[in-house]
Amino acid sequence: MSGNADSPVVITRHAALGYEGGVVLGNLEFEIPAGARVGVLGPNGGGKTTLFRALQGEIEPLAGKLEVNASCATVQQTDRSRLDYPVSALDVATMGTLAGLPWWKRPGRAEKRKAREALAMVGLEEHARDHFGSLSGGQRQRVLIARTLTSGANLLLMDEPFTGLDAPSEALLESLIDRLAGDGKTIMIATHEVEQASRWDLVLCLNKTQISFGRPAEALSRPVLEATYGGHIVEIPGQPELGVLPAHHHHHDGEPEEANR
Ligand SMILES: Nc1ncnc2c1ncn2[C@@H]1O[C@H](COP(=O)(O)OP(=O)(O)OP(=O)(O)O)[C@@H](O)[C@H]1O
Ligand SMILES: [Mg+2]
Repeated sequence: MSGNADSPVVITRHAALGYEGGVVLGNLEFEIPAGARVGVLGPNGGGKTTLFRALQGEIEPLAGKLEVNASCATVQQTDRSRLDYPVSALDVATMGTLAGLPWWKRPGRAEKRKAREALAMVGLEEHARDHFGSLSGGQRQRVLIARTLTSGANLLLMDEPFTGLDAPSEALLESLIDRLAGDGKTIMIATHEVEQASRWDLVLCLNKTQISFGRPAEALSRPVLEATYGGHIVEIPGQPELGVLPAHHHHHDGEPEEANR
């Protein structure tokens, strides 16, 4: 990692992000220390993916400063992978090593070994030879995380990695995140689950602007959640029980609202 161990991995100052049409996420003002697990909360369209794209260097800030002092890798939102494409879990994990190779080199023994180690790290060494498309959603998610590990990235951006996972897969992924952070990786996780984010080190609440940032105990207040979610109940498709209920609302099992993606 560049910079010394004490310097923040991400620094934003009055940063505004957006596209040709204008700013979609303004007022960013936060610093993230190495090894933190950061929950990124916000409604659909709140700006979570836009923030990740800026951190990954895909888009430049429209204003202000956004500094990333680490190599960065993203596990993208929803698995849009070609499931019919003939690659193994090991092949996918190996792809993370490509950026570190000269253009004329193909991955060799050393790269395959790295990939196997990364698959072991995410608990999938037994599945190295399995066709990527034949794995479960939770296993594919972990293969994609293995790919970020072989790339050597220190800042991992996970864009709604829990979507569609059952409870055991979710628990596995949560403990993997804990382990990686314990190893010094900085991890930002976009999620719709407030309760889950409250167990991590920091939370960043976004709704077109930065609503709050800090330790969950301070940054997740009732007014913050209302400003973040606009007083609406946010539900994950197919998992209404994991919905976010801002204060005033009692838990109920109504029909899940369709997420507008
Ligand atoms: N390529 C683009 N060009 C123009 N506007 C965009 C582009 N991508 C996203 N936006 C707009 O930016 C805003 C923030 O979108 P973004 O995808 O960052 O939200 P999000 O918090 O990730 O939402 P979700 O929970 O649905 O994934 C939205 O209003 C969206 O329409
Ligand atoms: Mg998104």
